[in-house]
Amino acid sequence: PFFFLMIRRPPRSTLFPYTTLFRSMRMKKALVATLTAAMVFSLTACGSSGESAGGSSSGSKDASSSSSKSDDLISIGFAQVGHESDWRTASTESCRSTFSKENGYNLSFVDCDNKSADQLEAVRNFVEQEVDYIIIDPIVETGWDTVLKEAKDAGIPVLVIDRNIKVDESLYTAWVGSDFTAEGESAGAWLKAYLEAKKKTDKVNIVTIAGTNGSSAQIGRTKGFNKYVKANGWNLLDEQDGDFTQDGGQKIMESYLKSYKDIDVVVCQNDNEAFGAIDALKAAGKTYGKDGDIIIISFDATNAGLKNVKEGSINADFECNPLAAPYLEDIIKKIKDGGKPDNQKVYVDEACFACDDTVSSFKTDEGKEITMTVVDDKVLKERAY
Ligand code: AHR
Repeated sequence: PFFFLMIRRPPRSTLFPYTTLFRSMRMKKALVATLTAAMVFSLTACGSSGESAGGSSSGSKDASSSSSKSDDLISIGFAQVGHESDWRTASTESCRSTFSKENGYNLSFVDCDNKSADQLEAVRNFVEQEVDYIIIDPIVETGWDTVLKEAKDAGIPVLVIDRNIKVDESLYTAWVGSDFTAEGESAGAWLKAYLEAKKKTDKVNIVTIAGTNGSSAQIGRTKGFNKYVKANGWNLLDEQDGDFTQDGGQKIMESYLKSYKDIDVVVCQNDNEAFGAIDALKAAGKTYGKDGDIIIISFDATNAGLKNVKEGSINADFECNPLAAPYLEDIIKKIKDGGKPDNQKVYVDEACFACDDTVSSFKTDEGKEITMTVVDDKVLKERAY
């Protein structure tokens, strides 16, 4: 029991800066290794079976990782949002391949299935397991203060990817992700330019299929796009949560089609919702996209999304880049070498795509110059995910 207590409850560390932190973590690992060996010996001698320090004591029902904490591997706990979209699959794959055993990492991955309570629990378990780093893609922005204070007290650097987190900046080491408000603004400014080019000056009726309520992707895209709704006097008929899934997109679109006779634009806050919306429009006999009556706007620009853009089903697609993991690895290497990230916040690069050249470039009201890339086979080939 004494050994067990020592492993599970080490003295709390408030170790920053990172050089001190890592010296201490190495000592902590040496202590854990010695005590684990002693415990294994003692348990074997008694004929009992036990769990290794990084084993199923994680409490994360779908955590997948090697169960042993190896001294020469950097241990990382990643609390992923879920598996709701193609974008999410690409993000997971990027983290798995970057933080692989071959690259020197022991990744403990938890798919939180879009449940905020599960995600908080996963992070708390990582703190208990004393992983070297915690990566979080926050399902929602709020509710993080307590668990991040626990991580800080344990001396574990927290890296946030993709979505934002609303906490004091001292509670996380770095954030790498997208400017969701800028994505929404680009979509709004593109629509304004497109309607002008098409000489559509009468009333514009818009429905939005939003992403998971409270996620920064939903909050930012809504805020950015709705600025243009207001500024241009467009008529936003409805805005409901499709949870970033194909099924959600289809159901919401079906209900919009029952409620509204005259829809000019469907804004889908990710590609999977757009696929669902397209299925619903097709089933209702509506025309959409390049040569149709209804303009479809989407976000993510995954390979499957861009295929739809090339075919002309989606008019414009605004990229959300899921490949944050390599940026995180750079940060981890810097910290490991005793340094710290150059910037606490890093925005990933993102582009904008269209099915034709009706609008090839435009300026947003915020003064940003945007070029639309028309999707062809070459673009599709280059888009791996
Ligand atoms: O947070 C990024 C968003 O979440 C992506 O747009 C979406 O596909 C994902 O589910």
